[in-house]
Amino acid sequence: METRVKNAISSLEIDSKDDVRIIGIWGMRGAGKTTLAQAIFDHISVCFEGKSFVDNVREVSKGSLFGLQKLQKQVLRDVFNDRSIYVTSVSDGINKMKRMMSRRKVLVVLDDVGHIEQLEALAGELTWFKPGSRIIITTRDKQVLIAQGVHVDNIYNISLLSREEAICLFSRRAFKREFPSQGYEELSQQVVYYTSCLPLTIKVLGSFLYGKSEATWVDTLDKLKTIPLEETLKKLEISYDGLEKDQKEISYISQLSEGGERKVE
Ligand SMILES: Nc1ncnc2c1ncn2[C@@H]1O[C@H](COP(=O)(O)OP(=O)(O)OP(=O)(O)O)[C@@H](O)[C@H]1O
Ligand SMILES: [Mg+2]
Repeated sequence: METRVKNAISSLEIDSKDDVRIIGIWGMRGAGKTTLAQAIFDHISVCFEGKSFVDNVREVSKGSLFGLQKLQKQVLRDVFNDRSIYVTSVSDGINKMKRMMSRRKVLVVLDDVGHIEQLEALAGELTWFKPGSRIIITTRDKQVLIAQGVHVDNIYNISLLSREEAICLFSRRAFKREFPSQGYEELSQQVVYYTSCLPLTIKVLGSFLYGKSEATWVDTLDKLKTIPLEETLKKLEISYDGLEKDQKEISYISQLSEGGERKVE
């Protein structure tokens, strides 16, 4: 098991049954929040009486209360394994959650929360939950966790990959093995430098460079030097959020191939 998954699981103290605990994981896009939350969920969900992994909270609830209502319904249905549960409004959802969630020791992951309102509807108060329950929230915005009153000791900034991990992940994509091919060691180090050790960009660039000529590597490096990572990510932001993971990767590659000038609609 990866060290960061192990550390997160130990901080959840799932054997301690007296309290309800909310853990927050924050970090920039592509840092690996969802991946980490999913790994934790897969490892420990068996220890709970009910479980729910809610993807894309920000996206689903954006601009409409129906979205939040839908997510409340999803949590209740998942936890009680009952497809007949309905939620008629956000406040109905809150009432049902208050009334019902305390019956089961639950593990709930709220992935990619963007606004406090979303937490108020899905995990408003610790008292909603049965002791022993654990709530994991991932977000790009640490402020959301603070506003929700998550204790500072339970807020974790997701650590980026170490240089070694980054080279290994990159090589798996670019060379289909754990380390760079002969003659590509220095180029690989340089490309990884420009990914800022962000898993998403490492994977995308690794896949893009797989099987490419040395000239393309050098050309890509030149482009990376002129497009700061932050800017590239920001440029993609508008269309990026609604895309599925694979589409995101393709979208990033085409931006790179076209020298970063492409305007993403
Ligand atoms: N530790 C890791 N090892 C290898 N690949 C990883 C790791 N963490 C994340 N990834 C990969 O990096 C990409 C981005 O990860 P993920 O979707 O978890 O990021 P995120 O922080 O949730 O991003 P967003 O803020 O956009 O939701 C995915 O393709 C994922 O498979
Ligand atoms: Mg995510």
